[in-house]
Amino acid sequence: MNSISKSIPEAIALLNQEEVIAIPTETVYGLAGNIFSPKAIASIFSIKKRPTFNPLIVHLKSVESLPQVAREIPIKAAQLAATFWPGPLTMVLKKQSNVPDLVTAGKDTVAVRVPNHELTLALLEQLDFPLAAPSANPFGSISPTQASHVAQYFQEEVPLILDGGSCQKGIESTIIGFENDEPVLYRLGSLALEDIEAVVGPVAVHNYNEKAPPAPGMLARHYAPATTTQLTTAMSLDLDQNLKLRVGVLSFSTNYQSDCIVAQEVLSKSGSLAEASSRLYAALHRLDSQELDLILVERFPDIGLGKTINDRLKRAAKK
Ligand code: TXA
Ligand code: MG
Repeated sequence: MNSISKSIPEAIALLNQEEVIAIPTETVYGLAGNIFSPKAIASIFSIKKRPTFNPLIVHLKSVESLPQVAREIPIKAAQLAATFWPGPLTMVLKKQSNVPDLVTAGKDTVAVRVPNHELTLALLEQLDFPLAAPSANPFGSISPTQASHVAQYFQEEVPLILDGGSCQKGIESTIIGFENDEPVLYRLGSLALEDIEAVVGPVAVHNYNEKAPPAPGMLARHYAPATTTQLTTAMSLDLDQNLKLRVGVLSFSTNYQSDCIVAQEVLSKSGSLAEASSRLYAALHRLDSQELDLILVERFPDIGLGKTINDRLKRAAKK
């Protein structure tokens, strides 16, 4: 059984012993280890059952420590770091040679961010090393936004879950890479693209095929509940077509009525995309635990964080 606690000394002791622990961030919980410990990094990959070709994000305590892990930092990257860190933005930059190949999966780039969570910032401040951390879920499943989600996934494998409550943003960070020093979007996330463009101008969207994405983790099926999940633009029609099933509904602000609905999650009654994103994964976790035949998820408006939510729903519903 793991211990769920707020104890930073306990976290420091375990990390110094090259153990892996779960940490809270403003986006989702991460499975964290010392980037310089081959043992800890190998444990992260094995606990998560993650393919070793898929690199990890390095979490730094401050903007000032960026040059310790990245080099040739483009001006626009520095502007984004100054504006959004600590915060839900990851940047892929050229790596310093001291960053181990195990962390970057042999790439000459490193993904970095400064997370915006009081507890984890206090932890990073007291460590002599940055933390590598992927989301704390088995490869391909829904990311955890509460300590209890991590505990359900990893009862035995993780000695400590540092409990930082519910993640404020609730969806992974936005990932930006650079090509010829210009920003390119690798993954939509909880920092809206429009907010990034307000600082650095237009951001190209990486045009990739699903088999070879710029961020190796961007697979077509991901963030997926175990229950069959379907994305719909016509909820009422789809409800009518599934009257014999036990259906769960996830909607933006509408409360749907149908005899087949046994569970319903309305993400934001007031129609706030920020509120909806912060509640998305917890709602999927709840729906997935109710032995439903089908989860119907509604397509969101395609603006701001709505784009990010649609991206995750599309991958969750991919067969
Ligand atoms: O919000 C987040 O980003 C959370 C919290 C814990 O910080 N972390 C997270 O990590 O979502 P993960 O490992 O689940 O997703 C990181 C993504 C993967 O798709 C990975 O392929 C990509 O970042 N990535 C990491 N390093 C990269 C690199 N050098 N080049 C391209 N993509 C990279
Ligand atoms: Mg992940």
